[in-house]
Amino acid sequence: INYSEPLRPQFHFTSGRNWINDPNGMVFNGQQYHLFFQHNPASTEWGNMTWGHATSPDMIHWTQHPHALLPYRIDGQAGTVFSGTAIIDHNNSLGKQQGDTPTMCAFFTFACEPRFYQALAYSTDLGHTWTYWNEGRPVVENQGFDAGERDPKVFWHEPSQKWVMALWVQQNPGRVRFFTSTNLTEWTFASDLMRDWAFECMDLITLPVDGDPAKTKVVLYDASFDYEVGQFDGKTFHTEAGPFVAGGGDFYAAQTFNNHPTGRAVQIGWMRGGPNPERVYQLPFNGQMSFPCDLTLHTHNNQPRLHAWPVAEIASLVDTTLEFSDVTLSPGDNLLEQVEKLDLVDLEIDFAPEASSELVLDLGRATVRYDATSQKLYLPAVDGEGHAREVVAFENLKPRDGSIRLRLLVDRLSVEAFVFDGERFYASYYNPTVGDDAVSITSQHGTTTIRSLKLNQLHSAWP
Ligand code: FRU
Repeated sequence: INYSEPLRPQFHFTSGRNWINDPNGMVFNGQQYHLFFQHNPASTEWGNMTWGHATSPDMIHWTQHPHALLPYRIDGQAGTVFSGTAIIDHNNSLGKQQGDTPTMCAFFTFACEPRFYQALAYSTDLGHTWTYWNEGRPVVENQGFDAGERDPKVFWHEPSQKWVMALWVQQNPGRVRFFTSTNLTEWTFASDLMRDWAFECMDLITLPVDGDPAKTKVVLYDASFDYEVGQFDGKTFHTEAGPFVAGGGDFYAAQTFNNHPTGRAVQIGWMRGGPNPERVYQLPFNGQMSFPCDLTLHTHNNQPRLHAWPVAEIASLVDTTLEFSDVTLSPGDNLLEQVEKLDLVDLEIDFAPEASSELVLDLGRATVRYDATSQKLYLPAVDGEGHAREVVAFENLKPRDGSIRLRLLVDRLSVEAFVFDGERFYASYYNPTVGDDAVSITSQHGTTTIRSLKLNQLHSAWP
């Protein structure tokens, strides 16, 4: 595989070839991070779902491997392999452990029309080779909702010493069905949580509140990153706050690494939307993952809110850093006068706009602007046909203590924006073939004070 095509994303995961969607089975196995993903081996459009596979030492540099899970046929039923999660069977609940190497277990939806079910595959060699448990027959039988029950999230619940599965079940209202197990193959119904907002790919994580490990809360979120915050007692989720929405734009179906070595909740989502890059840019793939972000919980006006923030490991990609502080830009000034060209960028800026001004960040092919009059932040975007446009990433984005804090990650096909330490974020594909390479940061219709700016130019994460 060659990742050097001029428009290939350089610090976001893409498959060498063909279609990807949801991240699946994200897990740390004691040595490496595993990222599985919905992959069509045959085309740059959705179909023939398998679990593709990649590994990384640091969540930034990825190596793609042969497919982990392929479609199969059992008892006369043919199906494909839909989304799910993976765990490390640290106490050998499944009883398949070889030597000292704990078994990796992947729970997925067997998409066999018309009645999907949940099944299990396991690996005794750290994720290299996989066996379908009981030849891929169900561990959780169809619950009566046909194809509308999928994407099992499985995790270990320490207080009750049980494995838990959270299964999205399509119903009006939507629901999350919880099961528990001690051996990973027999699952007992625990509770139903009825929620209108819940749609596909549930994830449930425990996070400290304001960094205090003695005070934890549980966050339950779906594919659109709607979430509620509360407690989970091993069987039932008890809500305390929400629903809220954490992220927006071309961001979908995220999950977090199970078994993270330091307990961090690091999330990767699928960036869906945009045009098929094969059709519009002659690239051999379709779809990329969002940049990995740490999730944390912070109290705002007595309410817990989720923040997402790019992982610190991005530092390994930094080539050069340019910093400014306390510069007031008047119309006509260009803060980046000395910069000729920008490619891969991680930019953090704290800026205080005058009431009528507009800050324009022209970062090569991607242009981002904040309009102080309307209090909107615009990102470059692209529609399904490849036409360039602009999108309002954040409305009602008001300065706090006079300024706005914004972080931007710019790759060849995408921009991700984070405001106020990741309290809100937005991911957007843009069309890199439109516009010029000009670089500038300017203030129009009034002045803007740049309290601080850090511009990191990055190099590729591919070898
Ligand atoms: C979400 C989703 C999942 C499903 C998978 C199929 O994007 O629809 O619910 O398991 O994609 O590819």
